[in-house]
Amino acid sequence: MKDQQGRRTQYWCHIEFKPSCKPLSLPPPAAYVILRAVVSQVRPHTREGRAQAPEIMPAVVVVGSQWGDEGKGKVSDYLAFDADVVVRYQGGPNAGHTVVVDGHEIQLHLLPTGIVYPDKISVIGNGVVVDPELLVQEMEDLKKKGHDVRGLRISSRAHLIMPYHRILDALQEEGLGARKIGTTLKGVGPAYMDKSARVGLRVADLLDKETFRDRFLPVLADKNRVIQGFYGREPLEPEPIIESYLRCGEYLRDYVTDTSYLVNDAIRSGKKVLFEGAQGTLLDLDHGTYPYVTSSHPIAGGACIGAGIGPNRIDKVIGVVKAFTSRVGDGPFPTELRNAIGDSVRERGHEYGATTGRPRRIGWLDLVIVRYAAMLSGFTSLAVTRLDILSNMDVVKVAYAYKHKGKVLREFPDSYKVLEECEPVYRDFPGWPDIDPSCREFSGLHPNVRSYLEFIQEETGVPISIVSLGRERSETLVLEKVF
Ligand code: IMO
Ligand code: MG
Repeated sequence: MKDQQGRRTQYWCHIEFKPSCKPLSLPPPAAYVILRAVVSQVRPHTREGRAQAPEIMPAVVVVGSQWGDEGKGKVSDYLAFDADVVVRYQGGPNAGHTVVVDGHEIQLHLLPTGIVYPDKISVIGNGVVVDPELLVQEMEDLKKKGHDVRGLRISSRAHLIMPYHRILDALQEEGLGARKIGTTLKGVGPAYMDKSARVGLRVADLLDKETFRDRFLPVLADKNRVIQGFYGREPLEPEPIIESYLRCGEYLRDYVTDTSYLVNDAIRSGKKVLFEGAQGTLLDLDHGTYPYVTSSHPIAGGACIGAGIGPNRIDKVIGVVKAFTSRVGDGPFPTELRNAIGDSVRERGHEYGATTGRPRRIGWLDLVIVRYAAMLSGFTSLAVTRLDILSNMDVVKVAYAYKHKGKVLREFPDSYKVLEECEPVYRDFPGWPDIDPSCREFSGLHPNVRSYLEFIQEETGVPISIVSLGRERSETLVLEKVF
């Protein structure tokens, strides 16, 4: 552009990328933005003129892709072996992660799976809700079994589950009657409610007697008004709670720190960090089958908030997919098998809640759900578990779409009413014999298992990196190394 005297007043920038690309003529601001973006991608050079290796970010998030109980415990434990730091980022004692160590089963509820390895740092992040009495109990139980828990770090910012949270969880469920959520009654929902309402108590509050009393007493008075006035139940006495919680605070004091610095320092210094999700995608507060959900964010984005890391710190996201579907608690479940097949899978797989002992509802694998989960968390690969439980069946079915009022849906519906009315569209697969847990090659799997796995990859568009062939760590087929 020129002024009246013919002088140029605006310069246009001419960018040529490769001889094969069309040159671009852009006004300076746009050119500047593009050049900055290009320059930021150019690797710095050393004095010798060679490009430096890109920054390593071995941070991996493990996410349940269904309604929880996908076998995250087994997968997290397998990956924890190679990790330096293992971080829980959400949920609370509602989780039940089963880890098999040397043939012995260990149930973890609040502690990250890394705790079974004495040389790892195991972090309870700020996004977790901690019941201090249960945590102390879990640590003591592990110590009695000969485990060293000194690698534990607890976020000072994590919120506390208080005795009134457990009571209110039960009273709220009672009030909902037939429409109850079927919670684990661990007080998880009410604790997250108080966090959002800014009346929660945090782990740091346990470490100072005066602060704890000051914060606790007015909140308890308010809760007692609800418990007594609204529900007509006995109010809670403050002193026994104060005494017990402060005792827990003393026990936990040396483990408490600001874990977001710890986790970010670990990532920056090239340590391998594993973020271990609890529950599953369809229990996510925003993206799950609301209102039949938990009160936190199990999806990969939850790791950013619940551990205090930037999204660009995450390198890989592993979606854990159980070879069938299960659900504890109420709510719609399109592929549910309310028949002898469902019962036999439940018995074979010991599909009973690790936290509440409730029988889990069982159904065929539903890839509409897994595809949705892959999108929400950006799965980079899948870990498929419990194929062994489906062995020796004549036919194994997999849902890949739903039918609703004559229409075929490939996307997961956002309304539970629609979900209730959906009919799964199945593809049938021939069954397979017992799975060889020592198989170390994809080609070593039975052809029917291979077709089943290939269909999962095709329908989700995500490659499988891990196939669990049994409960033990050694019973794992790795198709692509994660760490
Ligand atoms: P892991 O980590 C399966 C379910 C409950 C209920 C709903 C809300 O072992 O996979 P809550 O107590 O969280 O308020 O209950 O969420 N739920 C789980 N289901 N596995 C879990 O954990 C679960 N944690 C909560 O059954 O339907
Ligand atoms: Mg569980």
